[in-house]
Amino acid sequence: MTEQVAKPVAVVTGAGGDIGMAIAAKLSETHTIAAVDIDMTALEGAVDNLENHGAHIAAIQCDLTKQADLERLSKEAARLGEVTTLVNNAGAAAALTLHQMTAKTLSKDLTLNLEAALNCFKTFEQPLIACGAGNVINIASVNGLSVYGHPAYSAAKAGLIQATRSIAVEYGRYGIRSNAIAPGTIKTQAWKTRQAANPDVFAEALAWYPLKTLPEPDDIAAAVSFLVSPAARCITGICLPVDSGLTAGSPSLARTFTQSSDFDGC
Ligand SMILES: NC(=O)c1ccc[n+]([C@@H]2O[C@H](COP(=O)([O-])OP(=O)(O)OC[C@H]3O[C@@H](n4cnc5c(N)ncnc54)[C@H](O)[C@@H]3O)[C@@H](O)[C@H]2O)c1
Repeated sequence: MTEQVAKPVAVVTGAGGDIGMAIAAKLSETHTIAAVDIDMTALEGAVDNLENHGAHIAAIQCDLTKQADLERLSKEAARLGEVTTLVNNAGAAAALTLHQMTAKTLSKDLTLNLEAALNCFKTFEQPLIACGAGNVINIASVNGLSVYGHPAYSAAKAGLIQATRSIAVEYGRYGIRSNAIAPGTIKTQAWKTRQAANPDVFAEALAWYPLKTLPEPDDIAAAVSFLVSPAARCITGICLPVDSGLTAGSPSLARTFTQSSDFDGC
């Protein structure tokens, strides 16, 4: 009889959302999943779906902005096995502009998108060190690399990219790799209000993307899967844009600057 080797545990936050769900599904091929979200209804739907596809996955309700919840999360995740991977994916944006921003929305954006991710890293610091080859993936945003609105959220994501490097440098000696991913526009629940305000919002966004296709949750999941795999064993401290070229530049701006018809139709 062959002995079953226990899979390592990957903690995926915001797993009730579309991107988190895709990451959990992809990582479940190699890991037991601790699927974490504040919204148990969304989370249970996602988990049921993955369990039906044979994944070993546990739904854990947690408000990542609350220390007591993080402490409970660490115990519940440890019961599943050895935690080797943390994907800080939960995130959301409050104020659209600096003009709209208030002290309350500023605090909300910074707390969830930056502080909670770092506190979650601290929560799993010991098991990530102990396993000898831990992985931290921080889901940042193109908003952390340039200005696209949502200024406080963007500042938090820029901070998260910097925190990714800090983890890489300080914890590299323990074999921990730490990388960020910067997704471009992805059609998820997070766009519901903007899509309701303008049903053409994604078609309009597409015009700015050199590849003329928007990334999807599975594209982020594929990048996460690569970065945590042995194939990426010497990659740490980076921020990988998965943005169909958005942060590389704009063809229409290049057309204006060069006045070259070579950019027409790009
Ligand atoms: N959708 C995009 O266009 C886009 C672009 C760039 C980056 N991102 C980033 O990708 C990540 C996932 O985004 P999404 O579009 O799937 O969003 P989403 O709103 O679909 O999912 C986010 C999930 O996080 C959970 N969450 C929120 N606050 C929480 C808390 N305090 N504790 C625990 N869970 C909490 C929500 O319940 C939700 O299920 C976010 O970090 C987001 O900033 C998204």
